[in-house]
Amino acid sequence: MGGWTLGVIGGSGLYAIDALEDQQWIEVETPWGKPSDALLKGRIGDVTLIFLPRHGRGHRLSPSEINYRANIDALKRAGCTDILSVSAVGSLREHLAPGMFAVPDQLIDRTWLRQPSFFGSGMVAHVSMADPVCPRLAGFAVAAARGAGAVVAEGGTHITIEGPQFSTRAESHLYRSWNCDLIGMTAMPEAKLAREAELPYALVGMVTDYDCWREGEDHVDVASVMKVMAGNARAARAMVREIALALPTEREASPIDAALDFALITAPDARD
Ligand code: ADE
Repeated sequence: MGGWTLGVIGGSGLYAIDALEDQQWIEVETPWGKPSDALLKGRIGDVTLIFLPRHGRGHRLSPSEINYRANIDALKRAGCTDILSVSAVGSLREHLAPGMFAVPDQLIDRTWLRQPSFFGSGMVAHVSMADPVCPRLAGFAVAAARGAGAVVAEGGTHITIEGPQFSTRAESHLYRSWNCDLIGMTAMPEAKLAREAELPYALVGMVTDYDCWREGEDHVDVASVMKVMAGNARAARAMVREIALALPTEREASPIDAALDFALITAPDARD
């Protein structure tokens, strides 16, 4: 057993972690190219925390332009044991109101322009994605978000669209008919790559809008997303601080730490 090194990938509205002590920006190279930015490494209590602004400082990268493989690999190389992903999400359900936080337990991938795997080119692996979210980390995230004063919905299904455009009204209704609860543009393939990297992953969505399915409600636009995010940024930063302070000093192993044990098909002697 060792300690926790928590990777935090921050989306729109979470560009910095002010509670981080001994902070330093570190550059990490990966075989997959450059991550979105340097990593901000520091400490909160006993926990090492490594923060990566998903869109880069200054929000330069669109969801399709993010190098998800480099981001996950950089966090792994920097020593992360777990990844908490924070992002703005739209709501596909009446009870998930803008301003709330949500911690989904299922994900659907509707992206198509992104590199979704570290495998291929001679090395074949099929990891299980049946349960894409780590229940232990999600539990800490729910408690931390509540501790930060947010109203938090637990569980539910998040769908990732390619973007950068928001959905059509017909798509929004379609996703509701699929029982999706939340909609965003970045959780996939991030969660798939985290699983391939054997990193437990949980996602906190900050609900900013009702997308465009709801009668009598304006359809989502950037101004409405940014307005709610501005109100949420303080709670998001407080949540990160709370989760770091709540993690136990020792980290017990997770089954996800060995996700590849049951996933690699290529014979060991064919791997070099
Ligand atoms: N991020 C925030 N709101 C969103 C929405 N309605 N659709 C996709 N991504 C979002």
